[in-house]
Amino acid sequence: MDMLSGFGNEFATEALPGALPQGMNSPQKPPYGLYAEQLSGTAFTVPRTEARRTWLYKIRPSAGHGEFRRVAQGGLCGPLAGHNPNRLRWNPLPEPAEPTDFVAGLVTLGMNGAPDEPHGISVHLYVANQSMRRVFMNADGELLVVPQAGRLLVSTECGRLLVSPGELLVIPCGMKFRVELPDGNARGYIAENHGAAFRIPDLGPIGANGLANPRDFLSPVAWYEESDAPCELVQKYQGALWATTLAHSPLDVVAWHGNNVPYKYDMANFMVINTVSFDHPDPSIFTVLTSPTDTAGVANMDFVIFPPRWMVAENTFRPPWFHRNTMNECMGLIRGVYDGKAEGFLPGGVSLHPRMSAHGPDAPTTERAIAADLKPHKVDGTLAFMFETSGVLRPSRFFMEGAHLQQNYDAAWAGIAKTFTGAK
Ligand SMILES: [Fe+2]
Repeated sequence: MDMLSGFGNEFATEALPGALPQGMNSPQKPPYGLYAEQLSGTAFTVPRTEARRTWLYKIRPSAGHGEFRRVAQGGLCGPLAGHNPNRLRWNPLPEPAEPTDFVAGLVTLGMNGAPDEPHGISVHLYVANQSMRRVFMNADGELLVVPQAGRLLVSTECGRLLVSPGELLVIPCGMKFRVELPDGNARGYIAENHGAAFRIPDLGPIGANGLANPRDFLSPVAWYEESDAPCELVQKYQGALWATTLAHSPLDVVAWHGNNVPYKYDMANFMVINTVSFDHPDPSIFTVLTSPTDTAGVANMDFVIFPPRWMVAENTFRPPWFHRNTMNECMGLIRGVYDGKAEGFLPGGVSLHPRMSAHGPDAPTTERAIAADLKPHKVDGTLAFMFETSGVLRPSRFFMEGAHLQQNYDAAWAGIAKTFTGAK
């Protein structure tokens, strides 16, 4: 598939020659008899640097639809359990027993915002074994999809993206898309961002290069399907699923231009910055994408990864240190072993360390780290990540009452020995 490269670019692309009008946004008669439609990702009057919008040239305008009606939504968006100060960890979700597409396979781990407020996130997991035959759009926020197993062929209004485990996918709020499963099944994580749109962080003293580089973000070229077969369109609106049946495919954008677009990013392209002397920096050094708040430096959510990298620091306790944070950490594991845990944190599993909960390496990892002979060491074959959010995530009943909730996660730290030598 051809791709457009860059982050935040004003892309322009057409699936038919001359389909994209030149010199004006919304002409009276677009080429090929198309209709012009704007998809706004921000308020019209935000500063130019914040503005996101895309002009879509469609076979039919989106407005031609009937009434949406509520449909079943399983474990998506609640109900929520009470707030819980405990460190929590879950095994991977079981495979679905029934045919389950990407939308039906969505279950919510927790939320820290209401969809009618412009901040906060919701964390969902998905397990699916059937390609979608319908089309979905989320009116409650943009979606950051992190596949853990199984590729996703994602057909959006802007075009198609094939997304593999190790890559991330972002779909703007309100953009319609369909997910097919080339491998027959799929599993992964989703951060639904109700706040400011994700962007790559400023680099400060790092300089012009490093972390996630803009050129490695890939957006699709224009692609469309002309189908007059009935098509179910499902939307998530204020945490509930609503559906209507269209008389045609809504994935009918023949040309588009703008910067409110889906994109994917291969996390293998992340240029890791780390210490080459002693100690180690805060995990913010591993930030791929950030959703800022109005308070400088406070993220609504950071997407942080722990990829393969060299550890070279001397005189250092190398695993993530023990800590208690104001931010709330939801971690997942795509592959391998996370260097802060010896066992129990499984690929496809997830952990939640809420505000001010005490955590860090488990007992075996601590023991090994204190005794380690500190030579350069490659952390390899692993990819963990964190949805780090400033709001406290309230877990769902589906996750708090599910059989996949690990019992006695506290035992991970129970065996840490007292090594205090006492006053001499
Ligand atoms: Fe942590």
